[in-house]
Amino acid sequence: MISESSKLSLSVTDIHKSYGGTEVLRGISYRFEPSRCYALCGANGAGKSTLLRICALIEKPDAGVVTYSAEEKTLPHDINLKRCMTLLLPSVGVFNTTVFKNAAYGLKVRGKSRAEIDSKTYETLDMVGLKDKACQNALTLSTGETARMGIARALAITPGFLFLDEPTNGIDAKNYEIIKDILLKIKRNLKTTILIATHDTKIKEQICDRVLVLSEGRIADVKA
Ligand SMILES: Nc1ncnc2c1ncn2[C@@H]1O[C@H](COP(=O)(O)OP(=O)(O)OP(=O)(O)O)[C@@H](O)[C@H]1O
Ligand SMILES: [Mg+2]
Repeated sequence: MISESSKLSLSVTDIHKSYGGTEVLRGISYRFEPSRCYALCGANGAGKSTLLRICALIEKPDAGVVTYSAEEKTLPHDINLKRCMTLLLPSVGVFNTTVFKNAAYGLKVRGKSRAEIDSKTYETLDMVGLKDKACQNALTLSTGETARMGIARALAITPGFLFLDEPTNGIDAKNYEIIKDILLKIKRNLKTTILIATHDTKIKEQICDRVLVLSEGRIADVKA
């Protein structure tokens, strides 16, 4: 078992990925330090979402290695490891039920107790400013609220790694500020490593410790 207090490190080594004969990733190597926040930038089609899926163990690379480790030990790519991470896509999948049940989903599939589901779900809904909408049907939330609910669902499981794919797409200024504050709060708790695929300059500058620029299938630049 990986304990909630373990700090996970992630290294990717010489990752290659092609689709239909086109090589999208051509040898990506990087070590992500625990508890840091990274932005992944690059033009449309540069391979940001592909790299996020590979890091989140949702897709396998054609070549190269994804290594997760805790306390210097390499971890197998098993269900315990996969349960320590979450990938939040640009359009949040919404179930036709309450905001509470949507946000509680990750805890429920992990078999958590009723008491833990209740306390963690209300805590994260409070964090994203949706506690008062817990009983509302999630399909009736606004776009910005839906994005925040997705973040609550992702955070409820206290992930070691949080992968966010374009979290501020289609978000207005008010929701942007709320999401920015949530990300800053996650950063402060020092347990979660965050990797954000984004085109948003403010996210890169105001939240991220490092900015990785993908170009022509490689990491072309790393900015502090
Ligand atoms: N499952 C797939 N099958 C075929 N092609 C794919 C698949 N996944 C990604 N691609 C292709 O790989 C390339 C990189 O896609 P990816 O979504 O990773 O780029 P991105 O940097 O996230 O772009 P954007 O900024 O538009 O989100 C694109 O040309 C895309 O069409
Ligand atoms: Mg993408």
